[in-house]
Amino acid sequence: MSNYWSQYWRQGHLTSFGDDIKDNYVGTLKNVWSEVFSALNKDDRVIDIATGNGALVGLIYDAVRQDNLPYIDAIDLAKIQIKEPLLNKSEQTHFAGGINCEQLPFTDNSANLIISQFGIEYSNLKKSLAEVARVLAETGQAQFICHHHDSIIVKPNLAILMMSLELQSKSGGMSIVKRLLAELDKTGKGSPKSENWRNKLNKYMEKLLKTDKNSFMATNFHLFVKAVLQNQAKQSEIINGFEQELKGSIARLTDLANAAISKVEQSKVSSLCKQNHLTIVDFSAVVDDQNNILAWKILLTKA
Ligand SMILES: C[S@@+](CC[C@H](N)C(=O)[O-])C[C@H]1O[C@@H](n2cnc3c(N)ncnc32)[C@H](O)[C@@H]1O
Repeated sequence: MSNYWSQYWRQGHLTSFGDDIKDNYVGTLKNVWSEVFSALNKDDRVIDIATGNGALVGLIYDAVRQDNLPYIDAIDLAKIQIKEPLLNKSEQTHFAGGINCEQLPFTDNSANLIISQFGIEYSNLKKSLAEVARVLAETGQAQFICHHHDSIIVKPNLAILMMSLELQSKSGGMSIVKRLLAELDKTGKGSPKSENWRNKLNKYMEKLLKTDKNSFMATNFHLFVKAVLQNQAKQSEIINGFEQELKGSIARLTDLANAAISKVEQSKVSSLCKQNHLTIVDFSAVVDDQNNILAWKILLTKA
């Protein structure tokens, strides 16, 4: 799973929301973190799990004076590409890619704050929570912001996943386009057979547009169809490119769907915390000022 994340971080994004959140997290999510980060000082040791390109480290830098910054280890399973101004801001911060939070390379009881945002839930929680419990100091705390199955972040992505799976299905969009191209090749433009497949494709696309316009547009299928019909010489290249894009998006969104914690799964995650002697101080939904669910907040201490 880390492969597409490595590719993603290589593009230089700071957050996992690409161009939608270019600078750093703001608003409700930033406020949730600021509450915890404003209490940090240079005697603290923080571990950021699944740091990506260091967005949470950036929020620590925003919240704490330069001469009071804590010691920070920020790790991720993927290869990461930290950019300025985060890269050289503090000698006390160490970024490392290629590290799985199911096996943290840190000594027992060594961190007094362990954090993760949209990260730890991608791991095997049975293993990673055991590691959090091992590495967390007796008086420390861990705070995780995790994907919520019903959040305004996850829900639209699940709809895009459904749409992408539909396009890839046996009788779905990709197969109709291929039949149309084969027919155009065989019987030519305007022949009854190729017109039949063109109508089928148009009807299919109209139906998907009616069912869920936003998700349909997000797949870029309409752009693919236009490109492939206009560019006969490069047909197989365009098809391969789009199929790769679709495959990558399905893999990423399936991981997201599996990682997101539903209300029903909340008790399972709570049990895993308890099994590891982690006390749940707070396990609640984070909502924005319009009452939309953004994520879960999980705040833990060591019992
Ligand atoms: C959605 S991004 C979150 C990045 C960052 N925390 C943020 O808020 O912008 C999820 C990250 O989790 C990382 N990840 C997934 N499984 C992991 C694991 N087992 N150990 C460490 N990192 C993991 C991925 O490589 C990816 O960078």
